[in-house]
Amino acid sequence: MEYYSEEGNVLYCGDCKDVMGDFTDGCVDLTVTSPPYDNLRDYRGYSFDFEGIAKELFRVTKDGGVVVWVVGDATIKGSETGTSFRQALYFKEIGFNLHDTMIWKKTTIPQNGNRYEPEFEYMFILSKGPPKTFNPIKVKKLYKDNRVTNSGQRNKDGTYSELKINKTIIKTMGNIWNISTGGGKTTKDKIAFKHPAIFPDRLSQDHILSWSNEGDTIFDPFAGSGTTLKMAYHNKRKFIGVEISEEYCEIAKARIENEREQLTLDFEFNTSNIDKEFIADIVKCFD
Ligand SMILES: C[S@@+](CC[C@H](N)C(=O)[O-])C[C@H]1O[C@@H](n2cnc3c(N)ncnc32)[C@H](O)[C@@H]1O
Repeated sequence: MEYYSEEGNVLYCGDCKDVMGDFTDGCVDLTVTSPPYDNLRDYRGYSFDFEGIAKELFRVTKDGGVVVWVVGDATIKGSETGTSFRQALYFKEIGFNLHDTMIWKKTTIPQNGNRYEPEFEYMFILSKGPPKTFNPIKVKKLYKDNRVTNSGQRNKDGTYSELKINKTIIKTMGNIWNISTGGGKTTKDKIAFKHPAIFPDRLSQDHILSWSNEGDTIFDPFAGSGTTLKMAYHNKRKFIGVEISEEYCEIAKARIENEREQLTLDFEFNTSNIDKEFIADIVKCFD
């Protein structure tokens, strides 16, 4: 069932495997999602057919398209389930490349027990052939590289000038992403916290920027509170989302509508000289 539709962006309320059944082959550039993990949280009791969904994801992904599968394991009777690894290997079996195993290092929740605090989740980067898009996020290097090369040049007067290595001070980010969670860090949308397991906005956004371009179609089959859909819209991509719970669809819809309103206001402000002059006058009054 179509729950929300605007400007070609759609959120369906239903089981993602059934909904994907109606998609054409290769219609998705990038999927950024996290499935329910090992019943770790209560998502109103909904279940999912992992293998069926994985096969549908392969079919609907474009050649060169990417699936970002964010997942962790529950510990049951003292042992981790290993579901995350089983899922990653199954994706390989049906034809995806396991392009990268990335780590989301998040804020810990102090726990008592006989193990170290669980600090991360896996972000499996699965691609259908080599990824067609990679826009690496760059970060500043911690230290400047001040080394000199051995190969210098001999000057006319016999002295020797060393050749400085021309090292840049930025580099491609590593595959462990530190993204904090909690009020004010995960998202500014208060309504999102009605969902028990939201992505930080930044996590969705950084994957969207890395593996897709403007105008591409971004998919989230387990849309939850709609983080991936909102960040796709924010970054000028198209989105398709599916969420089985009507209650969570309502949260996702509210977040998307709020984002649309915000972007419209920003656009009107940026294109209206009258507004800018008016605001500038007000600012002057307070100078
Ligand atoms: C880990 S949460 C996703 C949270 C999301 N990334 C966010 O930022 O809000 C998983 C979601 O999958 C939904 N779900 C479970 N089974 C589903 C199915 N078969 N089809 C579609 N959605 C399903 C749950 O209701 C839950 O909201």
